[in-house]
Amino acid sequence: MIDIEKIRTDFPILGERVYGKDLVYLDNGATTQKPKVVIDRMEEVFTRYNSNIHRGVHHLSDIASREYEQAREIVRGFINAGSTDEIIFNSGTTAGINNVACSFGERFVGRGDEIVISALEHHANIVPWQMLCERKGATLRVIPMSDDGELNIDHYKAILGKSTRLVAITHASNALGVVPPVKEIIAEARRLGIPVLVDGAQGVQHGVVDVRDLDCDFYVFSGHKVYGPTGIGVLYGKRELLDDMPPWQGGGDMVKSVTFEKTEYNDLPFKFEAGTTNYAGAIGLAAALEYIGAVGLEEIAAAEADLLSYATERLSAIKGVTIYGNSSCKISVISFLIDGVHQYDAGMVLDKMGVAVRTGTHCAQPVMERLGIDGTIRASFCFYNTRHEVDRLAEGIEKVIEMFR
Ligand code: ALA
Repeated sequence: MIDIEKIRTDFPILGERVYGKDLVYLDNGATTQKPKVVIDRMEEVFTRYNSNIHRGVHHLSDIASREYEQAREIVRGFINAGSTDEIIFNSGTTAGINNVACSFGERFVGRGDEIVISALEHHANIVPWQMLCERKGATLRVIPMSDDGELNIDHYKAILGKSTRLVAITHASNALGVVPPVKEIIAEARRLGIPVLVDGAQGVQHGVVDVRDLDCDFYVFSGHKVYGPTGIGVLYGKRELLDDMPPWQGGGDMVKSVTFEKTEYNDLPFKFEAGTTNYAGAIGLAAALEYIGAVGLEEIAAAEADLLSYATERLSAIKGVTIYGNSSCKISVISFLIDGVHQYDAGMVLDKMGVAVRTGTHCAQPVMERLGIDGTIRASFCFYNTRHEVDRLAEGIEKVIEMFR
């Protein structure tokens, strides 16, 4: 069980006040706050051993390089990948998906081929595939969803076929919180030998992720959504696929030798890490993963499930509130609208009460279009939130309704 008092003191920002009110931070889907251990680790990099990695023979470079590779090992262990060669550091989920779309796409996708995604995807798991399809003359197929955001798996099975080159699926919807049956989706593709990419931007922070158990071919996530720094992310890929894929970007560190006639590429994982990587971010991310590992991913999942069910109960009881994405399988996200109140107005009034939520389409315009709405108010909870904060949200919504009545 989580010691919430202690946990909250680990996150300095949670003590902030906004417009004279205690901050209630419910925008964790956009970015999570950072525990002191992450902030301290970043400070340590810059005050004690900042130096470019893999490039210097000097002492500082040696420490920074070792810490960076140790961070890679920590990420590997966190998602249970088989080897650190399969862990590529990049700037975030978007970079990871673009890397796969460009390099896997370059090698394995051609005219007449198909890429399958779902109706739940974030723009980052739509647009790179559209761009690839445009370049290659391939077609994007979309698994449709119900009014509750549940994917039609029969439809999915029906569209998988000889032309399908890749399935790219979210681990959890950022806009609605719905968790699709990712394991079943992967197993079905695997049966036909089709690789699967999982967008873990909203998955990795909410419970145990085991890429070997999932049996996905690629898994991508962002550091800043898992209590780490911004500008760092991870692409996991199965070695046999990564080996067969050309590099995405060219530059320093991704090469073994360069002449004007020919370049020999570096081995994994460096082949996909051109230029100076965000080594400080990687080291900070490792601190974040160690921190949540010590809290316990199962404990985190249980605390968030409790918050989700309490918040769903509280908000459902308010007349005029409609919740979108009423699936039984969700991460701790509630997307909702208030009758007669535009989401931006609601978000601004809630802000004045110290409650931070996200409003709009959440970079998932097709989800909104499918639901026939132009956006929602989204409260996204995580394990450092409390039932008291859910009450503050509910009271805020009641006040919004009163003001706009
Ligand atoms: N993708 C992030 C969100 O869902 C920014 O808010």
